[in-house]
Amino acid sequence: MSLDVAKHDTDFPTPVGVFAEKVTSVEHYTDRLFKFRITRPATFRFRSGEFVMIGLPNAEKPVFRAYSIASPSWDDELEFYSIKVPDGPLTEHLQKIAVGDTVLMRKKPTGTLVNDALLPGKRLWMFSTGTGIAPFASLIRDPGTYEKFDEVILTHTCRDVAELKYGQELVDAIKDDPLVGELAQGLRLYNSTTREDYPYMGRITDLMASGKVFEDLGLHPIAPQTDRGMICGSMDMLRDTKSALEGFGLAEGSNNRPDTFVVERAFVG
Ligand code: A2P
Repeated sequence: MSLDVAKHDTDFPTPVGVFAEKVTSVEHYTDRLFKFRITRPATFRFRSGEFVMIGLPNAEKPVFRAYSIASPSWDDELEFYSIKVPDGPLTEHLQKIAVGDTVLMRKKPTGTLVNDALLPGKRLWMFSTGTGIAPFASLIRDPGTYEKFDEVILTHTCRDVAELKYGQELVDAIKDDPLVGELAQGLRLYNSTTREDYPYMGRITDLMASGKVFEDLGLHPIAPQTDRGMICGSMDMLRDTKSALEGFGLAEGSNNRPDTFVVERAFVG
């Protein structure tokens, strides 16, 4: 038997510049959504909110897709939250992974949804739809987020109630977390659905336009003097939420030029 560490579940060698990691847990939420965790290479460093390219060792040239890392930068494993795209070149296989399987990950993390790309402020708004909650799952578990902002509001909008479970469980667990629990007491989660009855309903863009989200939370509308934003969701959601924040007087920033909001630039379902 070969002990060649570059070879895993298949006959394909691990491509250059890629880590081959083991799956440590898998949890399916709905027929469209699942979470998985993998081992973390000892040399791998990233900033909370960044993404990496993920693939499977099932071809000479594997298909890679951008995945936000959902675990915080201090965690000893890496967590990902994924959609299952019917006939999706990666996710049709990825959704079948089990504990002990190998997942490939390119070595270089990157991304715009990082605290460094925002100017200091009082309140941080994180706007997410669907699996777009993933980078925020990382950031709300990072003490740095609470050191920079007094209040953190995470909005999550999904088609139906079952799709809200991942974020709800996460926020419930944070309050008891030994590392960030105390810091995160001011964290607020605002859930809404668009296709199933729920106490809060509607797209976040509509809830901002009507002012309902601010009324529900008892907060003044977004203002450039106090508020900062981060946005992650589908391409259409990014565009429309960006334009809503610009309407409140915020401006898009980047790693090189921090400003009052940032948009995920590589997110794909
Ligand atoms: P809707 O049900 O009205 O399409 P998806 O799972 O398709 O990514 O959608 C996740 C959530 O994002 C859904 O609640 C969806 O609402 C909402 N959504 C879709 N497009 C936009 C948009 N342009 N702006 C804000 N929210 C959106």
